[in-house]
Amino acid sequence: MEILQERIRREGRILSDTVLKVDSFLNHQVDTALALEIGREFARIFADKPVTKVLTIEASGIQFAMATGIALGVPFVYAKKKKAVTLADKVYSAPVRSFTRGEEYQVCVAQQYLGPSDKVLIVDDFLATGAALVGLVDIVREAGAELAGVGCVIEKSFQEGRGLLEEKGVRVHSLARIVSMSPGDVRFADNGSSNPRIKEPV
Ligand code: G4P
Repeated sequence: MEILQERIRREGRILSDTVLKVDSFLNHQVDTALALEIGREFARIFADKPVTKVLTIEASGIQFAMATGIALGVPFVYAKKKKAVTLADKVYSAPVRSFTRGEEYQVCVAQQYLGPSDKVLIVDDFLATGAALVGLVDIVREAGAELAGVGCVIEKSFQEGRGLLEEKGVRVHSLARIVSMSPGDVRFADNGSSNPRIKEPV
């Protein structure tokens, strides 16, 4: 998705060999027009599957799951990282170790919102180590639902996430695939382009 790669080139900040900061347009402040475009793109890519529900995990996947749900005309559900008192008694849950926060948590979805009649498209902002997404895949399977695939906005292809998902037989599609990055140099999988305009961390 060229428009997305261009934003990463212009506004991304590379904080280390593994962490890309995109919070001016993707996951802190959100460019709403871009988010809606991303939703339409996921809907187009997975149009061959009769998706009934989009699933993501709080917090940064929510805007893309909502945009995809709007484009497909179906509800979206977001998995919670804490079991609040208001959450139903019966939940599907899976353990996840967070890449950015370094802590383990249980990801939960109320059983009433996911079941064997659902065809689920999982959407998230980053595909990195795959920990969060593998947790969501396990939840979809525990629910007896069919998994249409996983759509990620940005994939860091040099991390193990895609491999873990593919080992589980999951179809993965990412809109921007970064094969390598360092300050001043980000390379995407489809054209291998390097862009010197990407800025050093501030
Ligand atoms: P994943 O590959 O299945 O997403 O699992 P992983 O545990 O590797 O990463 C999950 C968390 O780390 C997600 O946020 C994801 O957005 C974030 N993340 C991974 N790599 C990067 C990166 O390069 N830059 C940024 N900004 N975030 C990254 P989370 O911990 O679940 O928190 P939240 O922000 O969604 O609340």
